Amino acid sequence: NEIYLDGLGGVAPRFPMGFAGWEARAEAALPPSVWSYVAGGAGDEHTQRANVAAFARWGLIPRVFAGAVERDLTVELFGTVLPSPVLMAPIGVLGLCAQDGHGDLAAARAAARTGVPMIASTLSADPLEDVAAALGDTPGYFQLYTPTDRDLAESLVRRAEAAGFRGIVVTLDTWVTGWRPRDLSTANFPQLRGHCLANYFSDPVFRAHLKRPPEEAPQEAVLNWVRVFGNPLTWDDLPWLRSLTDLPLILKGLCHPEDVRRAKDGGADGIHCSNHGGRQANGGLPALDALPGVVAAADGLPVLFDSGVRSGADVVKALALGATAVAVGRPYAYGLALGGADGVVHVLRSLLAETDLTMAVDGYPTLAHLTPEALRRVG
Ligand code: FNR
Repeated sequence: NEIYLDGLGGVAPRFPMGFAGWEARAEAALPPSVWSYVAGGAGDEHTQRANVAAFARWGLIPRVFAGAVERDLTVELFGTVLPSPVLMAPIGVLGLCAQDGHGDLAAARAAARTGVPMIASTLSADPLEDVAAALGDTPGYFQLYTPTDRDLAESLVRRAEAAGFRGIVVTLDTWVTGWRPRDLSTANFPQLRGHCLANYFSDPVFRAHLKRPPEEAPQEAVLNWVRVFGNPLTWDDLPWLRSLTDLPLILKGLCHPEDVRRAKDGGADGIHCSNHGGRQANGGLPALDALPGVVAAADGLPVLFDSGVRSGADVVKALALGATAVAVGRPYAYGLALGGADGVVHVLRSLLAETDLTMAVDGYPTLAHLTPEALRRVG
């Protein structure tokens, strides 16, 4: 409505309306190496494209006489009622997308303005305490890349708890970086330039292992980070992960039902079904096609979903296939490139408005109405 009313007054929207426009504008705004890092994926990026294409193989079936004048998009997640079922997925090195280098803070401010929770990446340009403070009253979750040093892992989790994060999301599909030709061909691995290591550089356990502090010898600190990053965890580590916190423990990167069952048996509180937006392994099943099996195996445990969500209609489809809530990655990173926190707010509000209007027009007034019955496979 705001946009239509502005239009009546001759004011065009400041940012593009829809993913294709966000993508094009972000590509123009970002240096090529940053663009290839954010937009790129594994191998020839078939899985990345397939994630997006998978949504077109499901069609929503409109219902009439549904009384969807008022929609209720609220959802309870781990005891917190969220205004809508949309979250920001963790994005490492987000600072590169922001003009001032503080993309994590900008995204957190956008979360504060929209009520859309942020899952804050371990790989942040700003310490997690600052990100948590910028979130205001909007819930945040801390994404943990589990370092090989268990004391360091524990320290990061304690800090996240103290900062007020509402859950720990442990990412399991990135203990090693995937084969990413775009990054490889430019020898571009921004982590190595230390853009996103604030959580390590500010950590007492990490600092205790350094001969000289990162402020004096940044490259030495980066090399130390390389040593501890990337822990090839096994199921034997799950009890330890579980013991790290009383906060909700969510495991990210699960697509196989058997893994979901074991995660549930091992005490996980939530499952984050994702293939990392096709950045980690090529040749994989589109994440959306894994979702129904994950939901069935989760058997009532909350299921977050990401990978390939580009519109409000996509959000609705993932919810109908059983996701408790849906996260977006690249869309809000592009929003950041368009216009800092304002750009992220625009992207999130656009996605929420389209989600809401899709439910209105198609006659599904609440999330409870969105079941697999709302969909038909069309391809
Ligand atoms: C990511 N992703 C990610 N995941 C994670 O758990 N920790 C991280 O630090 C990152 N870093 C990261 C950087 C960039 C540039 C991207 C694009 C993605 C994966 C992310 O959380 C999510 O799974 C995907 O982005 C979802 O796919 P879409 O929405 O980008 O298609």
